Amino acid sequence: MSELNEQGSKLLNLLADGEFHSGEKIGELLGVSRTSVNNYIKGLQEIGLDIYKVPGRGYQSAKAIELLDEKQIRSLSNNPLVKVEQILDSTNQWLLDKIPNIKNGQTCIAEYQLAGRGRRGRTWVSPFASHLYFSYYWRFDAGIDKLSGLSLLVGIATVNALEEIGIQGVSLKWPNDIYYQGKKLAGILIELNAQANEACHTVIGIGINVCMPPEQAKLIDQPWIDLDSLSGEKMDRNLLSAALISELQKLLPEYENSGLQPYLQRWFDLDCFLDKPVNVLLAEQNKPGICRGINESGALLLECDGKIESFIGGEVSLRLA
Ligand code: BTN
Repeated sequence: MSELNEQGSKLLNLLADGEFHSGEKIGELLGVSRTSVNNYIKGLQEIGLDIYKVPGRGYQSAKAIELLDEKQIRSLSNNPLVKVEQILDSTNQWLLDKIPNIKNGQTCIAEYQLAGRGRRGRTWVSPFASHLYFSYYWRFDAGIDKLSGLSLLVGIATVNALEEIGIQGVSLKWPNDIYYQGKKLAGILIELNAQANEACHTVIGIGINVCMPPEQAKLIDQPWIDLDSLSGEKMDRNLLSAALISELQKLLPEYENSGLQPYLQRWFDLDCFLDKPVNVLLAEQNKPGICRGINESGALLLECDGKIESFIGGEVSLRLA
């Protein structure tokens, strides 16, 4: 299924309350037969919605679903350039396809990604209405040279947004993972469209785990956590989206003017590996050392045998003592 048609959307909005709805009533609402109702239900189950049928009572979503609300996000963030889609391939791709005909601040958020992308060619598991799949467009007139610290800045913006909605204790793992007590909470994937000596178009993709369905959790091969379990509350994805937009709106122009320098201290405060023994995994090498934070270009600083070396690429993992 590549999109929900009008009936599919109506059915989704009806079942979102988590109450029972009889097949007969659903058929009337959609203007379709009981058999077709079954097909629409199957369509929603295919995209990961947990919908049951109980004889004599009807259909029910296993939990109430709070859908993304485009109008609310626009008004809370004071940004009219927000597009909410129900189903698409990838929110990053949606924006990339529209370059250069979009303006700074254009945002795309989806309920479901058919082909959500993670870093290093991985898939980003994207079950329906469970997490936040968010992409934001920004054009850098100074070109690609300015961008080495961008993913770090976006990490800081994401932590700021989480703090604004009441989530404390989140930390950053160089270059762009968001962690909570050693488990991955969110990831950032920045994709570029750039030509030499021209403005650089960036699509900033952020995926945040909000409420992981048990079936989808089995597909993830690393320790993870979601906002609902760490906060003990049902998190509001509309508030979170608006907070992210507001932070990016504020920080990106500042970063364009002054680079990463004003944010270095904030990074040091949030760095989960600062002053810890780590391994930097490079293409053919595994470099052990002590993590000493970052420099103004966003490079990782590693102390090896008393000397500081800087790294732009690679992955960092904690080295067990
Ligand atoms: C990572 O591997 O840690 C980065 C994950 C980034 C996922 C987000 S979800 C919204 C945006 N659209 C995508 O296809 N990917 C990013």
